[in-house]
Amino acid sequence: MRLPFFSKPKAVLRPARTTNASALAEIHAEGGFAGSWSQSEFESLLADRAVITDIASDSRKTDVLFGFVMSRMAADEAEILTIAVRRKNRGNRIGQRLMDAHIARLAASGVKTLYLEVEEDNHAALKLYEKTGFITAGLRKGYYRKPDGGVANALIMKLGLENL
Ligand SMILES: CC(C)(COP(=O)(O)OP(=O)(O)OC[C@H]1O[C@@H](n2cnc3c(N)ncnc32)[C@H](O)[C@@H]1OP(=O)(O)O)[C@@H](O)C(=O)NCCC(=O)NCCS
Repeated sequence: MRLPFFSKPKAVLRPARTTNASALAEIHAEGGFAGSWSQSEFESLLADRAVITDIASDSRKTDVLFGFVMSRMAADEAEILTIAVRRKNRGNRIGQRLMDAHIARLAASGVKTLYLEVEEDNHAALKLYEKTGFITAGLRKGYYRKPDGGVANALIMKLGLENL
């Protein structure tokens, strides 16, 4: 028998609201990115009509966020600006569910091609993107500055949304 107290929290997915800005800044700060984005930067992004953001939260306590994904649309293209899941919630398919829901929403908004950039050593993110169907479309040498002062290459990846 599985005791409800010990069961893993279930994630529910929905579009973000401006009031989620501080939680998004917290989660982004855990993402290991070279520069983290402030609450006010997230407030501006969430208020931007071209920016689409989906969040995953605890089904029992929907103000507790597990992760989010954010894209900017331009005509029939979009670019993923960032995706992150709280460290303690990783490995539970939340990233995959966020990506699938986000892609469905972008496709319904008329997006035909989705792009992203990823550090070539980010194995977790690469696995998620490859499983989702992204293919490598280019390489930017020395694009990322690492916290230790080094540099890393960026892969540009793309996914066609028309025949999904
Ligand atoms: C990338 C990230 C969003 C993935 O979120 P997640 O919820 O842990 O991912 P999922 O559990 O949905 O896993 C999706 C797939 O990636 C794989 N994966 C997840 N973490 C992995 C890891 N550390 N190493 C290798 N593969 C990994 C999973 O095994 C799964 O594939 P599977 O179904 O074949 O097992 C999360 O690791 C994260 O927030 N990282 C920090 C921020 C970041 O790097 N964002 C991307 C910037 S481009």
